[in-house]
Amino acid sequence: MDAPADSSAFSSHSLYLSGFGTCVPEKVVTNFDMEQLTNTNDEWIVTRTGIRNRHFLSGDEQPSDLAVKAAQQTLANTGVALERITHVVVATCTPEYLSPSTACVVAQKLGLRHCIAFDINAACTGFIYALNVCQGLLCADPQACILLVTAEGLSRRLNWQDRSTCVLFGDGAGASLATARPLDTPGHLSARLGSIRCSSDTDCWDLICVGGGTHDPYTLGEPVNEHFFVTMQGREVFKHAVRALVSISREVLEQEGLGIEDVDLFIPHQANLRIIEAVGSRLGLADDKVFANVGSYGNTSASSIPLAMAEAFSQGRIKPGMKVLVASFGSGFTWGAAVLQF
Ligand code: ACO
Repeated sequence: MDAPADSSAFSSHSLYLSGFGTCVPEKVVTNFDMEQLTNTNDEWIVTRTGIRNRHFLSGDEQPSDLAVKAAQQTLANTGVALERITHVVVATCTPEYLSPSTACVVAQKLGLRHCIAFDINAACTGFIYALNVCQGLLCADPQACILLVTAEGLSRRLNWQDRSTCVLFGDGAGASLATARPLDTPGHLSARLGSIRCSSDTDCWDLICVGGGTHDPYTLGEPVNEHFFVTMQGREVFKHAVRALVSISREVLEQEGLGIEDVDLFIPHQANLRIIEAVGSRLGLADDKVFANVGSYGNTSASSIPLAMAEAFSQGRIKPGMKVLVASFGSGFTWGAAVLQF
């Protein structure tokens, strides 16, 4: 980790991503299980969303527990010692507490003390916003070794009386190391961040909300109301998501000087198979260049791209030399896209 493997590959805004650990809860909830929780059925969920299963936290299990397992996998994959980590940055829209940050909880559970630890909330765009923020941190301190985590527990904020929303989400975590230079430990896959763009349209802030903050004051002993949970205007979100994902993907490719034919694999946010297919087709990508695993995990918000990337590696769909386009859209509205050169 100390010496750069290739110093010519370093520029003032370089970011290399390595390790790619993931973790989902053991508990699998099928669409048939969902039929016991809300007034729905497998056929409706599969047709409208492509989702068949999702993983839910159980008992005392927390997103930080998933994050710790993903981080340990990342350290094992890269051979980097825990003590090298200078920052823990967690992208989440389901923090365990309003304060402290989930990053502080993850650092404590990992046994890391005295690092810089904070959360980023850009909802489902959290991973891409976090890449952008880490790029800035690495500019300020090129020696930094950032543990970039995504950790989500959407199942803890689902309203079982809102059947059009509660069937969509799942829990999961991802972790990777972000450094200004390639790691010198051999035998692991890494990617250089190319062009990246992030955006938002805050006029639409109330079309997807995850409650539990100060907006709704709760009284001890009183039940919570529906604003405590995830609320979403699904149809509006669908239209905005497709438009924004297509336009930001084109922008980032243009910024990188690439055409759509140069993309080896497109990994969009895994919210809904129909959104994924609509975006892939509008971008002019062949089906085999569009990666989807939403069927197995549902929408895991900030963790969806890390979970999809890890699955794409394990299926041999990402190999060294490939250019991977990632793009996401979420509450805020926020959206973003980036090119990763493996
Ligand atoms: N099971 C059975 N029936 C249902 C369900 C359900 N789970 N949910 C809704 N329905 C019914 C409705 O009651 C309605 O019935 P009605 O016509 O008798 O009133 C009918 O299905 C149609 O409901 P709509 O809500 O209009 O269904 P729509 O076709 O818009 O699909 C969906 C809903 C899947 C949520 C869709 O709008 C969508 O995919 N939106 C995007 C949401 C998304 O992916 N958001 C995440 C992106 S951003 C982020 O990740 C935070």
